[in-house]
Amino acid sequence: MSGPWVEKYRPQKLEDIVGQKQIITRLQKYVGEESMPNLMFTGPAGVGKTTTALALVKSILGEYWRQNFLELNASDARGIETVRNNIKNFCRLKPVGAPFRIIFLDEVDNMTKDAQHALRREMEMYTKTASFILSCNYSSKIIDPIQSRCAIFRFAPIKGEDIVARLKYICENEKFEYDEKGLETIVYFAEGDMRKAVNVLQAATSEGEIVNEESVYEVVSKAKPQDISNLITKALTGDFMGARTILRETMVLQGTSGEDMVTQIYQEVSKRIVDGKMDPEFYIDLIESIANCDFRIREGANPRIQLEALLTKFL
Ligand SMILES: Nc1ncnc2c1ncn2[C@@H]1O[C@H](COP(=O)(O)OP(=O)(O)OP(=O)(O)O)[C@@H](O)[C@H]1O
Ligand SMILES: [Mg+2]
Repeated sequence: MSGPWVEKYRPQKLEDIVGQKQIITRLQKYVGEESMPNLMFTGPAGVGKTTTALALVKSILGEYWRQNFLELNASDARGIETVRNNIKNFCRLKPVGAPFRIIFLDEVDNMTKDAQHALRREMEMYTKTASFILSCNYSSKIIDPIQSRCAIFRFAPIKGEDIVARLKYICENEKFEYDEKGLETIVYFAEGDMRKAVNVLQAATSEGEIVNEESVYEVVSKAKPQDISNLITKALTGDFMGARTILRETMVLQGTSGEDMVTQIYQEVSKRIVDGKMDPEFYIDLIESIANCDFRIREGANPRIQLEALLTKFL
């Protein structure tokens, strides 16, 4: 089967979901009891919220899950009327072949406040026949009355070692060779996002290549951490022209954007301060300049000029 690996390797059962162990254990209790309160899944992108919701629905509703399940996506209109009509029509019917019905609302943080208030009323009205699963990236964007009606589950970014194990499993299944460094590089870019990790893996293998550091850098447009480190070391030791060359090469050859450059410079500087390799006083001055550079680039200033100006602050 071809197609995106994120779909091909979306776990279908609760026990196959990577990480999130405590959450899965709590959810499996609901499956055993054949009942559940309203749930809210919150956490960063690509860590398994939608996947978990679908797996839970299948195991708790059993054979007739399709008939008793309503999913409303972010792409659907999210006005008050849509919420009312869809949910009302669905909830009026009795559950068939299952203990209750489930409504899954993905990306609730994109709903307007008015729509959220309408949703809250629907949640109250149908407590006997239906349970809700709400999913969002930021629970702070959800009105309090909804939050207080839900058991809240906070999904964490996936640990590096868990991502590596999953990527190895996929490589072996797809019969692609890999080396540890290549997978570590993917983990560095994914920042706990499993969807991103799997997507980078698939892109890195699209040429039929083996997954190593080079093939990963081919497909991500970020700078190599080693280049950023060299750039900063050169700037700090007064070699402005050397630093400028690395900056230009990275942006031209690797295609790294100005925003990504500033972020990676910030990460490297932060790492040095944590490792005690930089004077805190100097760091405080520097961080202000990094913040200014970041702001100006985002506002549309020429990234190369801004970054070169930033380098002068390191001298
Ligand atoms: N915990 C996980 N275990 C295994 N695969 C995962 C996990 N989380 C994410 N994935 C992979 O990433 C894909 C996307 O995950 P999912 O749709 O569940 O993310 P999400 O948390 O709902 O993200 P978003 O906030 O962007 O909606 C899945 O199809 C799967 O391939
Ligand atoms: Mg989702």
